[in-house]
Amino acid sequence: MFSTRLPASLVPTPLAAAVAARRARGGRLLDLTISNPTTAGLAYPETLATAWSNVAALRYDPDPRGTHAARATICRWYASVGETVPADRLVLTASTSEAYSHLFKLLCDPGDRILVPCPSYPLFEHLAHLDGVATDRYAFRDAGRWVLDEVELDAQVTPRTRALIVVSPNNPTGSVPSAREWEAIGDVCRRHGLALIVDEVFSAYPLGPARPGQDEPGHVTTPEVPGVLTVRLNGLSKLIGLPQAKLGWMLVGGPDDRVRAALDALDVIADTYLSVSTPVQAALPALLEAGASVRAQIQARLRANLAGITARVTGSAIDVRVPDGGWSVVLRVPCLGGPDDLALALLDHDVLVHPGYFYDLPHDGYVVLSLLAPEGDVREGLEALCTLPLLQLT
Ligand SMILES: Cc1ncc(COP(=O)(O)O)c(C=O)c1O
Repeated sequence: MFSTRLPASLVPTPLAAAVAARRARGGRLLDLTISNPTTAGLAYPETLATAWSNVAALRYDPDPRGTHAARATICRWYASVGETVPADRLVLTASTSEAYSHLFKLLCDPGDRILVPCPSYPLFEHLAHLDGVATDRYAFRDAGRWVLDEVELDAQVTPRTRALIVVSPNNPTGSVPSAREWEAIGDVCRRHGLALIVDEVFSAYPLGPARPGQDEPGHVTTPEVPGVLTVRLNGLSKLIGLPQAKLGWMLVGGPDDRVRAALDALDVIADTYLSVSTPVQAALPALLEAGASVRAQIQARLRANLAGITARVTGSAIDVRVPDGGWSVVLRVPCLGGPDDLALALLDHDVLVHPGYFYDLPHDGYVVLSLLAPEGDVREGLEALCTLPLLQLT
């Protein structure tokens, strides 16, 4: 009755069912999978709420790319992180997820294919399938840091491949491609005529050493990839910790003729839905200003959690795969049980973690922790992980 775009089974996995049952029982649960900043115990300034009472929102004057004022505000934010961005290359969407959907409609016919990174965020495959697009994976391999498998990347391109997605910093590994890896990515895109989609939603959260004298710890940028239509994605979800604001955007770059053609076509797609609300666009300057304090709290928390985790596991059998940025960390854990064993054992200790396979990490011994969770929860949950008898399986 329903289309094959949907998952073959809608039955919860055994782990999801166990977590739901544990939540239903109530009581304290240390959630180290948290990715919703609004439930992470951060202080949201009241001005984030009052930002919405802008009378400009009472006038409806739709523009498929988003209001010029909102796009100019985003340009000012890019300028604040050292980038000059023309407003006419921005297209606003209701979320980054919607931006993906627009791009699949722009670039792919049903049955065409896109390349997605592995490990990475499982959402991309669902988004693609809902638009009738197939996915192939290319790998970043665990060599202490995450290294692009350049040979495999090239081999994964098929005659129907239309685009390649890079997530930088990646979710959940936090890896940022090196200059050499960006060159290899550009080379594959040019040789096969692929568009490049760069998901930069975690760009404001680098985790390298803080630069002296800077209020904020810097910004992860994407180098120019010559000769390639490149669409960079970002949004308020992560930038100011406000997913419910529902505002994302695409920044279209590359050869001028292709950029112009892509923007004209995106106008048609965006105009069909006009999904970006006027209130969020009118509120944007105030949201970005007030949201800076939320971002600063998140930055501080990520760094504190990463430092605490690294200090606790140093000298133990657990290894940290140090992220370059982002909201999570991958741990290599010496556990050889079934895919869910570790997560279920921790659930018995009231600790919730994501097994690595959620993100297509190999089954044996990867676990993903949120760096966004309150520091006390991370400390306590990590202690439970470090003292699990499962670790004696090494
Ligand atoms: C890498 C990545 N891209 C996109 C998204 C979706 O963001 P949005 O809320 O803007 O749709 C997420 C959400 O966690 C994400 O991790």
